[in-house]
Amino acid sequence: MRRLKAGVIGTGFIGVCHMEAIRRIGFAELVAITDINYELAKRRAEEYYVPKCYKTIDELLADDEIDVIHNCTPNNLHMEINEKIIKAGKHVFSEKPLARNSEESERLLQILKDNKNIVHGVNFNYRMNPLVQEIKNKVKANEIGKPILVHGSYLQDWLLFDTDYNWRIDPEICGPSRCIADIGTHWMDAVQTVTGAKIIDVCADLFTAIPKRKKPKEVVETFGVSKSMEYEEIEVKTEDYGAVLFKMDNGVRGVFYVSQVSAGRKCYLNFEIDGTKSSIYWNQETPDYMWMGYRDKDNSIVMRNPNFMTPEARQYTYLAAGHPEGWNDALKNNIYSFYKFIIDGKSLDKDTPDFATFQDGHYLIKLTEAILKSNEIRQWVKV
Ligand SMILES: NC(=O)c1ccc[n+]([C@@H]2O[C@H](COP(=O)([O-])OP(=O)(O)OC[C@H]3O[C@@H](n4cnc5c(N)ncnc54)[C@H](O)[C@@H]3O)[C@@H](O)[C@H]2O)c1
Repeated sequence: MRRLKAGVIGTGFIGVCHMEAIRRIGFAELVAITDINYELAKRRAEEYYVPKCYKTIDELLADDEIDVIHNCTPNNLHMEINEKIIKAGKHVFSEKPLARNSEESERLLQILKDNKNIVHGVNFNYRMNPLVQEIKNKVKANEIGKPILVHGSYLQDWLLFDTDYNWRIDPEICGPSRCIADIGTHWMDAVQTVTGAKIIDVCADLFTAIPKRKKPKEVVETFGVSKSMEYEEIEVKTEDYGAVLFKMDNGVRGVFYVSQVSAGRKCYLNFEIDGTKSSIYWNQETPDYMWMGYRDKDNSIVMRNPNFMTPEARQYTYLAAGHPEGWNDALKNNIYSFYKFIIDGKSLDKDTPDFATFQDGHYLIKLTEAILKSNEIRQWVKV
């Protein structure tokens, strides 16, 4: 059987997760990596026994052996590098958000029109947790009745102190939104996936809880803590918190809030779907469990068990019950689904994938922009 050859650009926090995920797929082979920090890339290549470590992106793009390229760089480089990957004739799996704004993501969609053979994906990984897939199928099968409400949050604490700093604070690199674009898009993607509906109308309140931060002279890794005593004080222009009321195209009403300044919360993405018969709740920090709520009988907490899952969701679960599957497994499922789509010879023109495409990524940017607009004008905004 043919193996798809992969290259990874950017070997920071998420780049390594992609490298490990590719290694877990039998019909994929990680052949090359690159990073602007060549020392880091070399260390990663040695540690993971990656055969080729390139000094530049252009060298990696010119490697004829490579079929698929992962873009794991900061947001300001997503459009430029994704464009180069497409034009090099490689399939592209990009980190989220797809770009900094919809002008950039729209440009990518235009370029794809002339490159229809390219398979494109965006790493909205939470949709690929086995229980998220299970909830999607339960909702589809009408098990909770007609969905009425959706609510939840995504909370983190790694930017709580004014000494916490990362490239995400800089709008030039991150884009005009931080909390919504960085983690709110994950929440919206997960909820759109399980309900099979789109958010079309939003009313938002955003807040910068820490208006001034101490930017250290050294680079601070994602989720890292700066030990530097040398810093410059900067004004923060993006939100630490956001709350959004929304309407979906199937009539469902919802609300969510996101924060990067909630002490004790690390990767607290959770949602509840309330239907006319029952409710389902899931939290990615306890990913092997879901809560089922009833009006007319006892509530229950269900542990992931492949033996009793729907066939559609079962394809994304591997371990027997009681052997937890979590964040890394969902990310692997997403990347697996992308590679399987390619190896099966499917086309985005004809087939609907389980992973998020560049069109989905573009829509989530339009949603982010509608949320920014709503916060600015203090009114509901249609997407
Ligand atoms: N899907 C998820 O759950 C998830 C989680 C974390 C990050 N992300 C996304 O992944 C992207 C990277 O985030 P991160 O946390 O890994 O950041 P990071 O800072 O840890 O890593 C980024 C890497 O890109 C490298 N880089 C920068 N400019 C480059 C260039 N011109 N050429 C090659 N390499 C370059 C940096 O040296 C660094 O090693 C972001 O867009 C972020 O939103 C997604």
